[in-house]
This record gives sequence, structure tokens and C-alpha cells, in this order.
Amino acid sequence: TVGNNTNIFWHECPVGRPERQKLLNQKGCVVWITGLSGSGKSTLACSVSRDLHSRGKLSYVLDGDNLRHGLNKDLGFKVEDRTENIRRVGEVAKLFADAGLICIASLISPYRKDRDACRALLPDLSFIEVYMNMPLELCEERDAKGLYKLARAGKIKGFTGIDDPYEPPLNCEIELSQQDGVCPPPGAMAGKVVTYLEEKG
Ligand code: PPS
Repeated sequence: TVGNNTNIFWHECPVGRPERQKLLNQKGCVVWITGLSGSGKSTLACSVSRDLHSRGKLSYVLDGDNLRHGLNKDLGFKVEDRTENIRRVGEVAKLFADAGLICIASLISPYRKDRDACRALLPDLSFIEVYMNMPLELCEERDAKGLYKLARAGKIKGFTGIDDPYEPPLNCEIELSQQDGVCPPPGAMAGKVVTYLEEKG
């Protein structure tokens, strides 16, 4: 039984993940980037993808903002909506990783239990959680989209970090933060992620 359905069955295909991984000469995995709006998730995701591409590794970026233009355009920012957003992206990331790609998901994903549920979806594939641990003050100062300003003015309700929670990871694989009060350049942070991936094969 799957959900409310009793009459559905799993169909196995002779071309599986091992065959695809061999063809691509790489292992599928999910790099999950979490952090506040404006912490640099999307920039990091693109930088990692560019680095991997230049090394001949196939990756794909699933960006929260972008997916909300299509797959997740029916979802808002209430707790249930964010949970469903993360669940869907977790399932899509699993498909990409199963396809043999290095799937880079960049979403605020504010709730620990939602991120842990995505990790649990991938028991036989690597799930690498990357925490962009940037201070709220920095994100708010950047305010590239002007959303913090609107949130402070009460024009956006339930904005993460302002009047909505963000639960930092307790056991992430990679944490990126300021060094001596300065944010490392995106290329350097991406380098850390790529080095980690290389070391883990
Ligand atoms: S979540 O929490 O993971 O479901 O969010 P995500 O899909 O990553 O989307 C985050 C982007 O949506 C914009 N936005 C908001 N963010 C937080 N809270 C509220 N209420 C909100 N409303 C709109 C914001 O631009 C986020 O973009 P990023 O890329 O994180 O800066």
C-alpha cells in the first residue's frame, strides 16, 4: 500500500543507477544547501555547479525560488506549504541523484525535521547538508530583493528570521560561515564543497 492506494506496484528497469553511474563516470548524490534568505545559497549552488562542470561532472541545481515559478507555484510560506515544498524537492532531488547526477538543492528549508526527512529519503545515496551560517544582520544588510525591508515594515508576514523560525542543522556535513567577521568569497566556499565531494568519491 502506498498512501491511500493499494493497487500500485513498483516496476524495476534493467538499466539502473549502477549502469547510469558507470556511463557518467560519477556517483549520484544530493548536496542540500540550507540557510536564511540572502545568505548566499543560490550563489554557492551555481558556483559549485560551475566547478563540477569544469571538472567534467554532471550536476543540476534545484533552487527554491526558481522551483516556486513552476513545480511549486501552488505553495506559499505557511508551515505546511514549506514542508510540502521541501518534501517535493527532496523527492525530485532523489530522482536526479538516482539518475546519477550531483543534485544541488538550495532552499531556506527552515525546519530541521523537513531536512531530516529528505536525508531519510536517500538511505543508499549520499546526502550532504551544507549550512550557510551567515548572520541575520548580514543577510538583512544585503537585502538583494528588498524583502527584509518589506518584512520589517510588516508588509510580508512570516518572513524567515524576522517573524518566522529558522532551525540551524545540528549535524551537517559542511558549515560555511564568516571568518574574522568577513564572508569568504563564493569561489572559496564552493571549493570547500567540491573538495569534500572529491574526498568522498
Ligand atoms: S522554503 O522556506 O525553503 O520553503 O523557501 P524557499 O522555497 O527556499 O523560497 C525562499 C525564497 O522565497 C522568497 N520569500 C520568502 N522567504 C522566506 N520567507 C518568506 N515569507 C518569503 N516570501 C518570499 C525569498 O526571496 C527566498 O529567496 P532566497 O533565495 O532564500 O533569498
